Amino acid sequence: MELIDRIKWVLSLKKRARQTPGFRSSLSSYASPDVTFGENVRLWGGTKLTNASVGRFTYFAGTKASNITVGAFCSIGPGTRLGGMGDHPISMLSTHPVFYSTLEQCGESFADRDHFNEYKRTAIGNDVWIGANVVVLDGVTIGNGAIVAAGAIVTKDVPAYAIVGGVPAKVLKHRFAEADIERLEQLQWWNAPVEQLRECAALVRNGNIDGLEKKLGAPARESNPHASAPVPAVSGY
Ligand SMILES: CC(C)(COP(=O)(O)OP(=O)(O)OC[C@H]1O[C@@H](n2cnc3c(N)ncnc32)[C@H](O)[C@@H]1OP(=O)(O)O)[C@@H](O)C(=O)NCCC(=O)NCCS
Repeated sequence: MELIDRIKWVLSLKKRARQTPGFRSSLSSYASPDVTFGENVRLWGGTKLTNASVGRFTYFAGTKASNITVGAFCSIGPGTRLGGMGDHPISMLSTHPVFYSTLEQCGESFADRDHFNEYKRTAIGNDVWIGANVVVLDGVTIGNGAIVAAGAIVTKDVPAYAIVGGVPAKVLKHRFAEADIERLEQLQWWNAPVEQLRECAALVRNGNIDGLEKKLGAPARESNPHASAPVPAVSGY
């Protein structure tokens, strides 16, 4: 990153904090001007985000993420790398971009146009916990409520409320019964107004879905105009 970008970022922090209530970033973090944040987002030391949209109450503890949509209430652990790495085709005679890309990675291109999508967008749902030192490859979608165990390399889409781990990541288990996962997906509590969620904290801690449904009523998305965009449903591994 250019020094000038970093200086612009540090100078923009106060404005960002004014425009987005609760937003805070460490001085050692960086986000490009095209990154959008919801309320109460936190960028802890060494986080770097480019071309990203981040939902409210999500925090990054030293993450590199690019070309990505991250939902609300996500906890992203240290040393993680989420998307934006770039992909190469494996079916052509060479994987070198000089033959299929106009980006001129080495100062030249032998291609008339782009013949391959090098940067597929990555999507992380809401209430996702990603442990330390995880890599999520480009184009992967991680469902709501999923957990990615420390050290995993995620190469495929992850279903909602699954716990995945290992290299390559596999489903270790599912957090809740299928019917409860369906109810949580319908409820979309992460879109409810903050004051309502504050009142629901004990219900969340105690795993009381009945109580949560009663308190939040219809899918919470309808009551909040700032709701996160839905993450596409993901079928199993
Ligand atoms: C996944 C995790 C949440 C544990 O979940 P859990 O349900 O309590 O898991 P368990 O300890 O019961 O283990 C379940 C299985 O997953 C395996 N497993 C646990 N963590 C794993 C990991 N990081 N990678 C691969 N497999 C893992 C266990 O060995 C066990 O396998 P087995 O059933 O064959 O014996 C935890 O291991 C983890 O990775 N936490 C992230 C911690 C972290 O990075 N914190 C940083 C701050 S954000």
